[in-house]
Amino acid sequence: MNTQLIYLNPEQMNETELQKAVKILQEDQCIAIPTETVYGLAANALSELAIKRIFEAKGRPSDNPLIVHVSNMSMLKRCIHQDLSSRIMAIIDAFWPGPLTLVFKKSKLIPNEVSAHLETVGIRWPNHPIALALIETSGFPLAAPSANVSGRPSPTKAEHVLHDLSGKIAGIIMAEQSAVGVESTVLDVSGDDFRILRKGGVSLESLQHIDPAITYDDALAHPELTPKSPGQKYKHYAPSKPMLALSGNIESLVHHLKTMDLSQILLISTDEIINHLDVPYHLSLGSYHDHDLAMNRLFDCLRVSETLPVESIIITGFEDSGLGATLNDRISKASSQKLTII
Ligand code: TXA
Ligand code: MG
Repeated sequence: MNTQLIYLNPEQMNETELQKAVKILQEDQCIAIPTETVYGLAANALSELAIKRIFEAKGRPSDNPLIVHVSNMSMLKRCIHQDLSSRIMAIIDAFWPGPLTLVFKKSKLIPNEVSAHLETVGIRWPNHPIALALIETSGFPLAAPSANVSGRPSPTKAEHVLHDLSGKIAGIIMAEQSAVGVESTVLDVSGDDFRILRKGGVSLESLQHIDPAITYDDALAHPELTPKSPGQKYKHYAPSKPMLALSGNIESLVHHLKTMDLSQILLISTDEIINHLDVPYHLSLGSYHDHDLAMNRLFDCLRVSETLPVESIIITGFEDSGLGATLNDRISKASSQKLTII
């Protein structure tokens, strides 16, 4: 398949180019689009054919539901079969548009293929001018998983999508790097207990600031339980080389790394740690205390690691609170081995 590359500048959108993208969507084809979290592989959420094409292009297991992206409240209301309580509205007002997906009871409008035959649907109002313009102009909600081949790190740059999906999808919108860099937090609001099913761009603490009753779903703390978010059970984000994840405080990590032979190993870590070591191959996630920057760089570092002449990778984790918990989650899922240094 010929993959059309469409260049769009979010500050000054070229109408002709935008229409090319809309035409692809109207023809029930898939197109990779930028969002503020990661690039998504978008198609008409109301078309079974379009949904089938997303699953095929990604090689995605059919039991893993897709997130539906909307651009206004009336579109949201058409997709769900549930009242918007004041509790839910407080969360929407605080975090939408933004990196938060809410799981609702779904309406009949949503095909079963989108929700993998669950009674619920995950919905997100993204905070990106190109994504919003595409939803508004095409007039239907867009189903969009991350635009990577299943199992690979999520794409935060158009070039990542080109690498994974060129020739397999109808188009790619070539825009700038995703600002957040990790996927949305998934919060289940379909019952009385609001539970986080996937860690992401909004932290537990900032959600609790609006609604103190929100907690992580039990399966996030206990990997032996079946996760309510089907995507959580699959291998994720893994680079093509073995990767060891080290967790601990800065001092203990530096101390441990100094005892190792790192000559053939890539170290992905923070400035505070890298600056204390003499390592030939290293990639920086920024400061240990700057979670936003580390999220922005993480998936790109995992992909760059594949181009370097090293046998394996060591990556260091973060303090496990705020968005540090999201970083640790992605690092842990991407790693083949984990070690806590005390
Ligand atoms: O930031 C994001 O969320 C990106 C951008 C493109 O919006 N999308 C994304 O989609 O990460 P995907 O398909 O890679 O991950 C969606 C996650 C999966 O873990 C899936 O199992 C979960 O959301 N999910 C979707 N619908 C759900 C539902 N009804 N119930 C529980 N989990 C759901
Ligand atoms: Mg994904």
